[in-house]
Amino acid sequence: MDPLRVGLCGLGTVAQGVLQVLSDNAEGIARRAGRQLQVVAVASRTAKPEVDLGGATFSTDVLTLAGRDDLDVVVELIGGEDTALQLVETALSNGTHVVTGNKAIVALHGERLLSLASANSAHLGFEAAVAGGIPIISSLTNALAGNAHEWIVGIINGTSNFILTAMAEQGQSFSDALEEAQALGYAEADPTFDVEGVDAAHKLTILTALGFGAGFRFDDVYVEGISAIAVEDIEYARQLGYVIKHIGMARRRAAGIEARVHPALVPQSHLLSSIGGATNAVMVRSNAAGDTFYAGAGAGALPTASAVVGDLVDISKSSARLPRLPDGSATPLLPIDRVETEYYLRIPSLDQPGAFARVATILSECKISIEAAIQREQAGPSLDEGQWVPIVILTHAVEEQVMNRALAEVQALPEVVGEITRIRVEQLAVTN
Ligand code: HSE
Repeated sequence: MDPLRVGLCGLGTVAQGVLQVLSDNAEGIARRAGRQLQVVAVASRTAKPEVDLGGATFSTDVLTLAGRDDLDVVVELIGGEDTALQLVETALSNGTHVVTGNKAIVALHGERLLSLASANSAHLGFEAAVAGGIPIISSLTNALAGNAHEWIVGIINGTSNFILTAMAEQGQSFSDALEEAQALGYAEADPTFDVEGVDAAHKLTILTALGFGAGFRFDDVYVEGISAIAVEDIEYARQLGYVIKHIGMARRRAAGIEARVHPALVPQSHLLSSIGGATNAVMVRSNAAGDTFYAGAGAGALPTASAVVGDLVDISKSSARLPRLPDGSATPLLPIDRVETEYYLRIPSLDQPGAFARVATILSECKISIEAAIQREQAGPSLDEGQWVPIVILTHAVEEQVMNRALAEVQALPEVVGEITRIRVEQLAVTN
């Protein structure tokens, strides 16, 4: 069989990882693919003469490479949005298969790109777009295709997980932990995307589309990052038996699909809690397979290259098993105020008799049931009239809009002397 002719756009860390994996593992890859995978052309806006291209031609014009008609597959690893999108559209319109690691363009334009691929009998592979080396796209698309899923939850931003782990284990502040993550090269060029949840929301958009046929609706995904998490919340969570993780959650409910990215308290005993540092993990609850769990490197040259090469091998077979356009029978994504979760609340309150009772009364009038509460002895900084203490409460599950109403009333109490912190709680009880 003729080799699969690959054009590689980009020559950054991941693209170099792809060249390395294709070279190091050439024999096994050819055996599984049924033919050689040959990178015949590389294009990158920046020349890197020090990189061994293994005989491929080099140019700085990525769009021209994408439009060539002598390639079987174009691999897009230039990152960014505009040129990457143009490049992918050019190749697909030409009937050339595409493999990309670009979560933003898939999350924002996935529907259109998969339609374009289908209209031109091309395949679009994006295993590398979500959770690096973890094969979650192919699991949802193929191995778990016989299931209806109840939820998909994941730690899908390694930078946030690294920061929260450092805060929990070393007592670092958010900003110190972010600095360390940047120094170690975990955070992307703009750390806002990582720490404010945008990167995770791109990935969750893709998981929601594939897992629930919900379309690629990034704009409807609720996004909250970790920059407001305080070390004291991590400590209170620990005392209550929880770890704070930044999660992406897609969950089927009767009225629609929840798709949300935010920090959450997860029980210390849960598998997700053991995922520390920059590691990623995804757990899927399905009606036939039960709970399945995937963990591994969510970024980095070789893990991400592994996902790219997996897609290339898939394409090299006669019928690729890559994602297709979701079925279009999408149930709506629910707005965040319709989401139902348990809550952790930290309420800075004057240390006065009856303060806790007044908070409890409001919650009770809103039919919010308290599961656990702690009121610490140690006082916060002195205020004009006295001392304050945090009232920490765990609630049972309640719709967000009900919690919003209750917290507006609690916040207005004269005893409440600062902004209330609220963090959602996910029990994710294992059933099998
Ligand atoms: N910046 C991402 C993360 C890796 O921190 O997980 C690439 O998606």
